[in-house]
Amino acid sequence: MNKLFYTVFSFFPKRSLGMSKITATILSICLLLAGGSAMAQQGSMSEPVDRAKILTAPGVFGAFSTYKIRYEYYKLSSAERKGAADEVMAVVDKHKDKVIVDAYLTRGFEAKSDYFLRVHAYDAAAAQAFLLDFRATRFGMNSGVTESLVGITKALNYITKDKSPDLNKDLTGTTYSGDAPRFAFMIPVKKGAEWWNLTDEQRLKEMETHTLPTLAYLGNVKRKLYHSTGLDDTDFITYFETNDLGAFNNLVLSLAKIPENKYNVRWGNPVVMGTIHSIAEVVNTLSVGQ
Ligand code: HEM
Repeated sequence: MNKLFYTVFSFFPKRSLGMSKITATILSICLLLAGGSAMAQQGSMSEPVDRAKILTAPGVFGAFSTYKIRYEYYKLSSAERKGAADEVMAVVDKHKDKVIVDAYLTRGFEAKSDYFLRVHAYDAAAAQAFLLDFRATRFGMNSGVTESLVGITKALNYITKDKSPDLNKDLTGTTYSGDAPRFAFMIPVKKGAEWWNLTDEQRLKEMETHTLPTLAYLGNVKRKLYHSTGLDDTDFITYFETNDLGAFNNLVLSLAKIPENKYNVRWGNPVVMGTIHSIAEVVNTLSVGQ
């Protein structure tokens, strides 16, 4: 669009300081086109964000936050807590054209949290706007944040068609085939200076060694990677969904045994395990029980 804008303006000589009607009309068309293409990228203003698209696109902002419900929340009358899910759902609905929200129940699994949210948006400010409105709900204001991490999605860096064609083929050729996953894990990973000072070829070799043992788990573990270097105190947020905790345990063990692990300076801390629910279910369960 910028190119079109500049072309149109350099095409019309600056004959007078006032804008001619033709120039103004062309400018309006350009602005309309610009708005149109931005909306096409992010979904129209009133349509909900396309979930399948945003979850596979590069350049998407992801915010993970874990929460512990304050004791005072349970001093509210049950009638007040009963309305909490509707209030939160109204906020989810308000932001649905820019943001998708996934919710997980961690109570019973984690000491420091009762639930966590995973928020995706094409624009980080839209994710923040949702989280601000969420924290202004009765449920949100009674939830203390115990961890918060942000990152962005990217295209593959290493296991690409060009750099590692065989592994790329295996990686993209196998899809999840288990039952609908019930469990999710969020694990931050940070690598030290030694890792970042390896050559591109050395890092590629290490990532090939990483990928090889993981391929066997593609059928029962779903994975998603967020890059956080510079955006947060970690380098990566790794996210997994599975129904098979034994397989997940074996997968992580297989990665603990490879040289790449020596470069990790943070692994977990926290590892967050939750069950996958709708946000209404999470709010209801923690507000009034199941
Ligand atoms: C089904 C299981 C898994 C598969 C198929 C898998 C595969 C991959 C692949 C192909 C990459 C390279 C991405 C690229 O080319 O840019 C990668 C990166 C990464 N994986 Fe895994 N992985 C799995 C499980 C795990 C687990 C359990 C962890 C740790 C909790 C993990 C941590 C990472 C990290 C931190 C990176 C980024 C490394 C970097 O760019 O330096 N992965 N994974």
